[in-house]
Parts: sequence; C-alpha cells; structure tokens
Amino acid sequence: MVTAAAANNGCPDRPMRSISSSAMPADVCIPDGFTDVPVNYFDDFAWRAFLAMVWPAAPGHRGVADAGKTVAAGGPRVFETMKSLWEVFHEDGSAPGPGFEAYDAAANNACKVQPQFGDLVLASFSGIDDIGQAGAGELAGPLAAQNAKYVRYQTLYNRAAFDFIVRNRYYLRSNLPNVPSPRPATPVIGFPIGSIVLKAAWLDMAGFPAGQVKRYYTRDAIVRDPDTGACSRVTVGLVGLHIVEKTPTRPQWIWSSYEQIDNVPPARFGDPVKFTFHDGGKDPMPAENPLPLAPLARQPVTPFNVERPFFAKVHPRTELTNYQYQELLKDTVWQYYGIVVTQWPRMEGNQALPVPASQNGDITNTFPGAGAFSAFANVSMETFDQGRPQLGCMSCHNQARMAADFMWSVLDHAYPAKYFPGAAALRNKAAQ
Ligand code: HEC
Repeated sequence: MVTAAAANNGCPDRPMRSISSSAMPADVCIPDGFTDVPVNYFDDFAWRAFLAMVWPAAPGHRGVADAGKTVAAGGPRVFETMKSLWEVFHEDGSAPGPGFEAYDAAANNACKVQPQFGDLVLASFSGIDDIGQAGAGELAGPLAAQNAKYVRYQTLYNRAAFDFIVRNRYYLRSNLPNVPSPRPATPVIGFPIGSIVLKAAWLDMAGFPAGQVKRYYTRDAIVRDPDTGACSRVTVGLVGLHIVEKTPTRPQWIWSSYEQIDNVPPARFGDPVKFTFHDGGKDPMPAENPLPLAPLARQPVTPFNVERPFFAKVHPRTELTNYQYQELLKDTVWQYYGIVVTQWPRMEGNQALPVPASQNGDITNTFPGAGAFSAFANVSMETFDQGRPQLGCMSCHNQARMAADFMWSVLDHAYPAKYFPGAAALRNKAAQ
C-alpha cells in the first residue's frame, strides 16, 4: 500500500557491499520512489541472503548463524543445518519428529543413520528422488559431471516454513486444500512471511584434481549409492544453490540462484580452471538430456557438455555485483560463487512498494520477463530448461502457486508422494 511512511525508507541509493553480517535480510531494500528495474537492489539482497545461509552455524542450533565468527570460519553452514526434505516428508506419511532443533529419527532417511549436528544425508528411498532434476511438477533426467558422478539435490526448510507445514499437517496430501472454482485471488495455503526454502546441488568430487576441488566449498556427506543402496561418507562440493525467501514486499517469494564459477565455460580471465560440467572441447551441449531417470544408468555415467546459452548469460549488472562481493570474499572459497539470477514479482511504478499477494508469478509480472536476454536458470539444477524464459524459476513454480504457495516440493512429496512418473493428478491440483 502507498503510505507516507514509505518515504525516506532508509534504503541507500547504492547498496553498501559488506560481508560482515550473518543476518538474513528481512526484505529487499529499494529507495522509495525508484522506478527503474531494481536489479542492483535485488542482487545485493541475494548476496546478503547467500552470506547468511553459508555463514558458519551456531553449534547445536539449527538454522542459526554464529554471529561471533566470520564467513571465512569453518564448520557446518547455516543452511546445511536446516530441516531436510526427508525430515519433513516421511515415506510412510507419519508426522515429522517434534521440534525444529532435533534431528529426525534414523528410520526416516534412506541411509538409516542418526545425523549428528551439521551432518548431511544425501539419499532417497527411490534412488532417483534426489537425483532427478526438477521438471514441471515431476522429476526429469539427471545431470552427470565430468567425473561421471550424478549431481545430488537437497531441499531444506527454515523454522518458519517447517513449523507451517507441520502445524497444518501438509505433509499429508489429504490435508492440502483443493483449489476452488472460481479461483480465489490468493493461494489456498500461505507460508508465513520470513519462510526460507533452499535447494542445494552437491557433487561427489572424487576424480577431480585438487586444484579444481579447492575452489569448491566441500564437506563430507553421507551419500547413498543409487545402485547398491550402500551409504558412505564422501567429500561433496557445492555446485549450485537456490534460496527463496517470502518477504513483506514480495509475498510471491524472492527467487535467487547461485553457482560455483567453474561449472561451465567461459573461464574468468586469468583463472587456470577445468570445468566441472564441460570437458573444454568442442562438443556442444545436447539439445535433450541423453540420460534417463528411470532406469537410472549406473555410475560411472558418460557425461555430456553443459553450456550456458549465449542468449542467456548472467546479467551484466549482476556480474558487476558478483565481482564486488567476490573481491571482498577473496580470502574464502565463497569468492568462487556468484549469483546467476534473482527473480522477483514486479509492478510498474515505485519499486519500494509491496506487490500484493494476489499478483501471480507469470512471466510478464516478473524479472527478467518474457524478452529475457539474461540467465533465468541454474546450469546445475535446470540444465535443460535454459532455453526459454517461460521455463524460468517463477514461471515453473507459478504452476504450484495456487495449491501450494509456489512450493513444488509440498505438492510432490506430501504423502502419498507424486513426483514420478507422470503427474496428471498433481497437475489438476496444481492447475492455477
Ligand atoms: C521446470 C520447472 C522448474 C524450474 C524452471 C525451476 N524449478 Fe525449482 N523446483 C521445481 C520442482 C518440481 C521442485 C521440487 C522437486 C522435488 O523435490 O520433487 C523444485 C524445487 C525448488 C525449491 C525447493 C522448494 C520447492 O519449491 O519445493 C526451490 C527453493 C527452488 N526450486 C527454486 C528454484 C529457483 C530459484 C529456480 C530458478 C533459477 C527454479 N527453482 C527453477 C521445478 C522448477
């Protein structure tokens, strides 16, 4: 709403680059009266959100940053300690373990391990659930890196989002409200403001030279082999990350995506790198994913080259913000990460004003819009959806808007889960 209080809202004309805060920004800070495309403000928000999420976690406290440390310090990161998908959506539809802080029982993850604080379990009962890429409501084919290993995906919820799902028992499909006809103005469920949901892409780094691995944020994870079902601790690297936050001015969430910079060409000037998803040769990226999700080919898998299309490079202004933060982070591994895109709902006029929740996430209502000339997908997560802006984050998640407030994972994993194969019923429910 337009209020006099919005004037002098305290947002600087030029965002102050800083890596000293572990706090998640509550909202984007756009000076009142700014009417241009506010990409700089959203990218600054996205960098601060990234820093807050990769900040060292306070020991023993899930989802809380250790504000006494710098981002350069070691240990589990804030986002890694949030609630994992397997703790929220159980195979048998039973209720998640009580409380956000506690780790859920070993029986509920496919490795049957009891995590200690900060542990990562990358495993699924189906063997494909954490390997399939996101499609429009169902899982699509996997991504293999140059070391012939599959990328593994992990979804995480902060306390606000987790409590909302548990309180309403939305881990059961029967509790998800149907979308009435005629459709209401706003989604039938509404996550609270301050909800944060992440999706991380991890890769077993075995086989890459040390000089390449050290440019990735690495840690150990308990990983389940999809063929044998055996679980072991391996060193995984963070290849990509999505962070979405529901904020007061953007109840459609702010959609930010990040990648490690050596994933695909081009190499940054002067950087002696090999690419993780490209062999450096001339073979183009295939038009369609040559790897099926089911049956899933055994690892080692024959990899293919991944590219970012020339017409959808990272926006030049986003690159500029990336350079500035990367420079500040040059004593840390985070200097090798950058924003690919931040997407948000927009209206004409004063960009500091809240966008009403009744506005959907159609491409015409979002940045970068239908005529996008900049990136709208993450090479490690929506590898084959980089071709059409219609397949950008919000456009695809908009299909889950009415039924689940954009959160595909709820529609896919509420018991009984529906993510593969075929999702006709899901589509009816999701149809907005
Ligand atoms: C083609 C459709 C599609 C596109 C494009 C897409 N996603 Fe998703 N996304 C999904 C699906 C489907 C899931 C749920 C996968 C699962 O767990 O079964 C998902 C999961 C997520 C999650 C976890 C929360 C949730 O909704 O379940 C986040 C966060 C997310 N995506 C962010 C993004 C961002 C940021 C982008 C753009 C860079 C993006 N997505 C692009 C389909 C898409």
